[in-house]
Amino acid sequence: MTKSKNFLNNFIKTFRFGSSKDGHNEEDLEKIAQQEQKVFTFETLVAATKDFHPDNKLGQGGFGPVYKGRLPDGRAIAVKKLSQSSSQGKKEFMNEAKLLARVQHRNVVNLLGYCAHGGEKLLVYEYVVHESVDKLLFKPDRRQELDWKRRYDIICGVAKGLLYLHEDSHNRIIHRDIKASNILLDDKWVPKIADFGMARLFPEDQTHVNTRVAGTNGYMAPEYVMHGHLSEKADVFSFGVLVLELISGQRNSSFNLNVEAQSLLDWAYKLYKKGRSLEMMDPTLAPSAVTDQVAMCIQIGLLCIQGDPQIRPTMHRVVVILSKKPSNLEEPTRPGIPGSRYRRSHRPAGSSSTAGTSGESNSHTFGSSFTATGTSSATQVVQDRGKRPMES
Ligand SMILES: Nc1ncnc2c1ncn2[C@@H]1O[C@H](COP(=O)(O)OP(=O)(O)O)[C@@H](O)[C@H]1O
Ligand SMILES: [Mg+2]
Repeated sequence: MTKSKNFLNNFIKTFRFGSSKDGHNEEDLEKIAQQEQKVFTFETLVAATKDFHPDNKLGQGGFGPVYKGRLPDGRAIAVKKLSQSSSQGKKEFMNEAKLLARVQHRNVVNLLGYCAHGGEKLLVYEYVVHESVDKLLFKPDRRQELDWKRRYDIICGVAKGLLYLHEDSHNRIIHRDIKASNILLDDKWVPKIADFGMARLFPEDQTHVNTRVAGTNGYMAPEYVMHGHLSEKADVFSFGVLVLELISGQRNSSFNLNVEAQSLLDWAYKLYKKGRSLEMMDPTLAPSAVTDQVAMCIQIGLLCIQGDPQIRPTMHRVVVILSKKPSNLEEPTRPGIPGSRYRRSHRPAGSSSTAGTSGESNSHTFGSSFTATGTSSATQVVQDRGKRPMES
């Protein structure tokens, strides 16, 4: 090697890795580089999850099972083994996972890294201690752990996380699968959106999610279920369903509280129209509920689940509404229910406060959309609900 080439090599080394005074030898630097690339070896994940032992299984979603594990440095992880139905090649998977690992926000679960080994593709997430909202909210013996403050914080946090995915992350990300089991709660009860980016990892498979959840999980926007129209507004719809579930403690997919309502969404809308929206509140919230906030969240939820995607608010608007004191909001129009057609509502250009469907009363403003204003009356209101006939 010529002298000048040697010099050049040394210069590049110094430039790339800093001076040797740092105490790093090249091996260390290689390790650091690998960590930055966030690649895990398969052996590491086998050891961490005790060879994907069934006892470590956290759950089984449509994209594959998730296992709890522990890394040698003590960090708890959740490893998602992607199902083989993605025909994405190894290189594409690695590229997408690398991009997703750059997605970082307080309200989005941290993707620590990924692994491609033979036909296996795995994603490695930080383990989030309280696991998912569904494991608390829909369990009668655990739902009281979610008092109103926690539920309100979940609503606000998920809204911010979704806004980030829609507008601020490096790549615009439509989540496509917002639901209670994809919202995790950390040790401080901060909500974290999980499973983002599945659309990027299963790109060839538009129908995958459709067949998996259409009509069964109750979170999908009608225009997406029926026509495959996917936009941020589909996430807004799912967010609205989640909000109404958090307030009622009821799963939309197995709703059977009221014979006159087809679904949780329909029930919430009908109560709202009668000015009795607070009756949908989960009775366990009675002691902790701030009724102004509950009523505002019901109205936000109803605005998000409107049939016409164009008049659903953006996540940006939802975050702005939540950051302000309860104020006058527009009237929600009918919820979108897959299978039913929606009427496009006509509203005057430039107006954001009149979105009622024709023939329906537009008289409810935020302030008049509920009857009870104090905690004690809320208690009474929600107790009434227990007497409702159950649908067989
Ligand atoms: N990072 C994580 N930390 C803790 N629990 C997790 C984590 N990721 C997933 N889980 C749990 O594993 C379950 C299964 O996950 P997933 O495969 O995404 O299915 P789904 O979200 O459809 O239930 C989740 O609902 C959640 O309870
Ligand atoms: Mg999930």
